Amino acid sequence: MTKEGLCSFSSITSSCVPDPTFLNCLFTYTGKSYSITVNSLSGHIMKKTENKFHKRTNEELIDFIKKLELQALETAEERLPLYLIVRLKDATLILDVGCGSGFVTRDIARLTKGMVVAIDGSDTLLKVAQKILNDDVNTILCKADAEKLCFADNTFDLVTCNLLLMWADNPQKVVNEMVRVVKPYGKVLASLEPDYGGKIHWPENKKVDPLFAGEAIRKKGGDPHIGRKLRNLFVNAGLETIIGIGNNRIWSCEEDKQYYFHSRDFYIKTLKDAGLSEKEIDQWEYEFLKSLDEGIQLNFFPQFYAIGTKLKPKYP
Ligand SMILES: C[S@@+](CC[C@H](N)C(=O)[O-])C[C@H]1O[C@@H](n2cnc3c(N)ncnc32)[C@H](O)[C@@H]1O
Repeated sequence: MTKEGLCSFSSITSSCVPDPTFLNCLFTYTGKSYSITVNSLSGHIMKKTENKFHKRTNEELIDFIKKLELQALETAEERLPLYLIVRLKDATLILDVGCGSGFVTRDIARLTKGMVVAIDGSDTLLKVAQKILNDDVNTILCKADAEKLCFADNTFDLVTCNLLLMWADNPQKVVNEMVRVVKPYGKVLASLEPDYGGKIHWPENKKVDPLFAGEAIRKKGGDPHIGRKLRNLFVNAGLETIIGIGNNRIWSCEEDKQYYFHSRDFYIKTLKDAGLSEKEIDQWEYEFLKSLDEGIQLNFFPQFYAIGTKLKPKYP
């Protein structure tokens, strides 16, 4: 296969099928042929919606990409076992929904013999993903809306998303769409969906801790309690569902400290936005780092996952 990189559907080598709004895209990779039917109008509709998915300044974008890269690295230990359960290695056609900068998609692509189609609603993030996935010839990127996927029913063997549902405007629509495009008996995997209500932190700081217990996420448009809603979302979408917590290891103080320094800008901005003075922020940071250096601080933050199997309809 020649690497297509970021493509609008019209640029994929295609042969038209009778309905002109659908294109039948053909790929060959390691001697195998893949055919995906996509709605050619969706790419066009999506062009107007960039701001909905990406409102960051250039500086914020650089920080966000760094954060996603670190996150992909630090969560590999909880995601890899899930990829084994859903038999990623042997899946032929995989869809990764809300791929963002592509770091998690890259893990997925390197752990399968199949072909990975990755979609996101943001042009800016897709351009970053294009660079990250440049060497991974079994990936193809498309711009699409997760709530209205541009693929035909029953297309993929496996559909994944990582840290998407927390940020989706309508997570039920997203899961319903993931189910629609997965084949009967195929798997749908949502990984790394946190629940800030289950966050544990000690020693406490009564003023600061509540700010990091979901309020900052809610202000940015995310749902801090998405983790507890996963079963409901998956079962409503008709999936046979298993729910679990991916991270059962408590990080060492050294790991927490490293993570803090990578995300320091986010912490400080959140505290400033909440109206804390510089003196209060300095005091909080001093106490926070002191308890890490003393090796006494404990943090736990549950990251839920859901694995669903699409059953064949009882009455066709
Ligand atoms: C927190 S990022 C996660 C990115 C990636 N999955 C990862 O784990 O590194 C969430 C991504 O979902 C995308 N997104 C949110 N809602 C979407 C939608 N309705 N359609 C397409 N992409 C969406 C955003 O543009 C963003 O790139």
